Amino acid sequence: MTTPEPKSEAGLAIGAAEIDREHTLQLDLLDRFATQLGAGADQETLAATLDQLVDFTKMHFASEEALMRLYGYERFAAHVAQHEETVERIDALRDACEAGAEDLTAETLAHLRHWLVEHIRYADRAFGRFLVGVRDAGGEGLLPPRFDT
Ligand SMILES: [Fe+2]
Repeated sequence: MTTPEPKSEAGLAIGAAEIDREHTLQLDLLDRFATQLGAGADQETLAATLDQLVDFTKMHFASEEALMRLYGYERFAAHVAQHEETVERIDALRDACEAGAEDLTAETLAHLRHWLVEHIRYADRAFGRFLVGVRDAGGEGLLPPRFDT
């Protein structure tokens, strides 16, 4: 089964379908926010989209980290540190939005998007290769991740 690439991004599939779907949705939410901001959407609309992005990002990171703990991923601490920085960046974006900050610009969003894409491209793909190795080794007695659901 092929896994969906995050929209308009090449080379981001990590080889685990569920995680790839979550990355697609995460980037789509950020893109939706950027579109709304550019179109001059009202504060309530912007805040609702950012709340979705924050909630979804936290859920997605928790699911990645649960898999890492389950399989004893050796780069867990470094990966989680990147997740924590990402959450801080998105929380800061939400705070800026709530304050109506004028420095909430397309450039700010582009930086965040670049950070997220680079996290997926390097840290998450490294984890994906690790997961493939676990799967190929038969999970070493653990339940295999559900790659194809
Ligand atoms: Fe990650």
